[in-house]
Amino acid sequence: MTKTKTVFFCQNCGAQYAKWQGQCTSCKEWNTIAEEIIQKASASDWKNASSGSRASKTAKPLRISEINTSKEARYNTDDTELNRVLGGGLVPGSLTLLGGEPGIGKSTLLLQISLKLPYKTLYVSGEESQQQIKMRAQRIPSKTDNCLILTETKTQNIFRQIEETQPDIVIIDSIQTLHSDYIESSAGSISQIRECTTELIKFAKETATPVLLIGHITKDGNIAGPKILEHMVDTVLQFEGDRNHVYRILRALKNRFGSTSELGIYEMLGSGLREVANPSEILISKKEEELSGTAIASTVEGMRPLMIEIQALVSTAVYGTPQRSATGYNLKRLNMILAVLEKRAGFRLGAKDVFLNITGGISVDDPAIDLAVVAAILSSSEDIPIPKDFCFAAEVGLAGEIRPVTKAEQRIQEAEKLGFSTIFVSKYNKISLQNTQIQIQMVAKIEDVVEYLFG
Ligand code: TYD
Ligand code: MG
Repeated sequence: MTKTKTVFFCQNCGAQYAKWQGQCTSCKEWNTIAEEIIQKASASDWKNASSGSRASKTAKPLRISEINTSKEARYNTDDTELNRVLGGGLVPGSLTLLGGEPGIGKSTLLLQISLKLPYKTLYVSGEESQQQIKMRAQRIPSKTDNCLILTETKTQNIFRQIEETQPDIVIIDSIQTLHSDYIESSAGSISQIRECTTELIKFAKETATPVLLIGHITKDGNIAGPKILEHMVDTVLQFEGDRNHVYRILRALKNRFGSTSELGIYEMLGSGLREVANPSEILISKKEEELSGTAIASTVEGMRPLMIEIQALVSTAVYGTPQRSATGYNLKRLNMILAVLEKRAGFRLGAKDVFLNITGGISVDDPAIDLAVVAAILSSSEDIPIPKDFCFAAEVGLAGEIRPVTKAEQRIQEAEKLGFSTIFVSKYNKISLQNTQIQIQMVAKIEDVVEYLFG
């Protein structure tokens, strides 16, 4: 016998209340609590959900040495970028959430992977019809014909199809369109998302099937639905980029099975997403003449060195208060660097507008790009171009000192591989590279750099 019950959920953090109240005690947001109808008997069990009565088996404690890991080998997704971001492939029984703005390419990415995989995949779409998915699939080159397309939104029906088809990997597009019979409220509500995710987690863990979920994000960049969705899944991936640019960046925000500092870069083409194996090539604009105001920085994202181009424009302020703007770089850090240049190197930038841009639409928090930022600003301010084959990898301190950075040798090797002639690094970096073609310019103060560049 089931009894209808209503519960109040905070739409922001997912906290549950018995009564309505104006402010959520848990996340302190106002007016976020809404009533949702839930049915008393929440099965939360995918087997009960699909067949009705089978009792779930109880787990027993085991020693680490007794736990069988032979099945834990990862599934290779046949996509080097995704594999790297996941930490080496999909872990059996894991739940991966892929978030991103509408139209960024989430469905394209996962459909493309299912079309390439040698495993049997079930692609469940609650957003598009089978015909629409076929139209999309026809644009993407496919290697295999192992992908089954299901258009369904009810979890009980999805599990029935899963039992029938026994797929190796399940993809859900998207979690916000699913609904479970055990909850009355509409699809996309907090309690539905929570219930459907719980059912999927149980299914994934019991059958060791990896499940990939697509999640919508709200205007302020969070994954729509309760924050607990992110706590429940094993891995949260974010697909980002400017819709007007062709490049897309995949990064892990949370990863129980790998590092969160890896990046995957894709290019959106007419025929789907192309993996960008050598990102430095796309991030540096290829130009013939040398222009003032650009400098190349060597940064490291995860384990991979990347060369990025920094552009600065310094001009006399038209209005009283000079403007400072930074795209892809922390504005506070830009202000700090300008203060250091003013105080320690004697450049009068206080009355100048300063605009800074990292090309390619990416944003970087690696402090090792500081020196390139300094070089770009000074180059624009003095209107003297920096030679195209110079690059920089050092942090700038408040005293105007050039500080060492991590993985300096890796950065130098990447710069050498890409044909740079000179790299500026801190004098305090210990470098024991032998036989390098690239000239390693050791600097200790901003003055050293200024003297070398502008003599
Ligand atoms: P989509 O995967 O539908 O985005 P999401 O699921 O994140 O909402 O991506 C749709 C966009 O991608 C759309 O603007 C068209 C573009 N696109 C291409 O440029 N090339 C292609 O081969 C495909 C399939 C889509
Ligand atoms: Mg989509």
